[in-house]
Amino acid sequence: MASGNQPTSLEGFARGGVAANAPNAIEVNHIVKKYGDFTAVDDVSFAVKEGEIFGLLGPNGAGKSTLIRMMTTLIPITSGYARIAGHDVAKDPDAARRSIGVIPQALTSDLDLTVQENLSIYAKLYDVPTQRRNAAIEELLELVDLTKWRDAQTKTLSGGMRRRLEIARGLVHRPKIFFLDEPTTGLDPVSRVAVWEMLTNIKSQRQLTILITTHYMDEADRLCNRIAIVDHGKLVALDTPEALKNSVPGSTVIEVQFDNPPADWEQRLHSLADVTSVQPESAGMFRVLTSDGSRTTTQLVEMAVQSAVKLKTLTVQNTTLDDVFVHYTGRQLRDELVKAFSFVMPPRPGLQP
Ligand SMILES: Nc1ncnc2c1ncn2[C@@H]1O[C@H](COP(=O)(O)OP(=O)(O)O)[C@@H](O)[C@H]1O
Ligand SMILES: [Mg+2]
Repeated sequence: MASGNQPTSLEGFARGGVAANAPNAIEVNHIVKKYGDFTAVDDVSFAVKEGEIFGLLGPNGAGKSTLIRMMTTLIPITSGYARIAGHDVAKDPDAARRSIGVIPQALTSDLDLTVQENLSIYAKLYDVPTQRRNAAIEELLELVDLTKWRDAQTKTLSGGMRRRLEIARGLVHRPKIFFLDEPTTGLDPVSRVAVWEMLTNIKSQRQLTILITTHYMDEADRLCNRIAIVDHGKLVALDTPEALKNSVPGSTVIEVQFDNPPADWEQRLHSLADVTSVQPESAGMFRVLTSDGSRTTTQLVEMAVQSAVKLKTLTVQNTTLDDVFVHYTGRQLRDELVKAFSFVMPPRPGLQP
C-alpha cells in the first residue's frame, strides 16, 4: 500500500512545541493597505506566538509581501495596526525594527563583496559592538554552513548559498523575530531542502519567532506550526497544517482496484461508513473519498475478504494543502502560479525571429 504525504525526516522536526500560553510576538489587527482605489491587503488579523513558525501562504499578488512590508515598518499602514514584540510599528518604528530581522523577497547581498564582508557590513550597520562582531560572524557562518566560503566573492555563490548568506546577515544583530519573504523561491529542490534544514537548525539553537511567506504548499506544510492562507488580500483560513487538512470534507482519497468485482460493488463501497463518494474508473478500479481513511481502508479490505473478491492495488492519499487551497478559494494554487508566470514572462520582442 502506498500512501501520500509520507513523513520525511523534516516532519515535525522544525515545528517543535509552542507553549499555549506563550506571549504574542506579532499582532496584526484589522490591517488594510490601499494603493489608490486598489486594496492590496483587506482587513487581515492574526497573532503569532513567541517561538512559533508562522506561514503566510498564497499565490502571487495575494498581498504577502505587502503584509510583511507593513509589519516591518517599510510601508505605512492604511488602517488597523501591527505590534511587533509589543511595539506598535506606526507609533514606535525604531523599537519594532530593533527586534526584527528581515529577508526581503529579492536577493540583496552585495555581489562584489566577500561572504564575510557582507556580514561585517551588516554587523556595523546594526551596531553590533566591535568586540562581539567577529564571534557573531563566526557563529553565523557555522550556522548556515558557509565557513569555508567566507572569503569567496558573493557573485561566485549559487542561489541557495546566497540565500543562506542573507539569512545569516538577517540574524547578525540577534533579532527576536525573523521575517522571510519567499526564502526558497527560484531555488532548486536540493537547495530548498537545505534552506529548510538550516531554518530548522537555527530555530533549535536560538529563541526565535519566524514569519515566512511562501507559495509552496510543501514548504508551508513542512515548516510551519500554523498557516494563514491569503488570497486577494484577504485571510481565508488560519490553522495548523493538520487542522486545515482535516477541515476539508472527504479528507482521504482511496484508489483501489479489485479483480472482477460483482455488479453491486460500487453500491456496497458507497454504503461503508464515512464514505462520501465513489467514482468507478476502469477495470475494477474505484476512487473512494472518505472522511476516515484508516477505518474505510480496513472495512473495504474486510469486505473484499468476506466476499472472496481479490484486491489488486490500494493507494491511500491524505488531503494535501492543495485540496485545502481549492476548498477555501475555489481555485488551484498551481493554476494561479502558471497564470502569474505567463504574465511575468511575456515573449520578449527582441528575441523573436
Ligand atoms: N507599490 C504598489 N503600488 C500599487 N500596487 C501594488 C504595489 N505593491 C503591490 N501592489 C499590488 O498589491 C497586490 C499584492 O502584492 P504583493 O504584496 O507583492 O503580493 P505577493 O507578495 O503575495 O505576491 C498585487 O496586486 C500588487 O500588484
Ligand atoms: Mg511577494
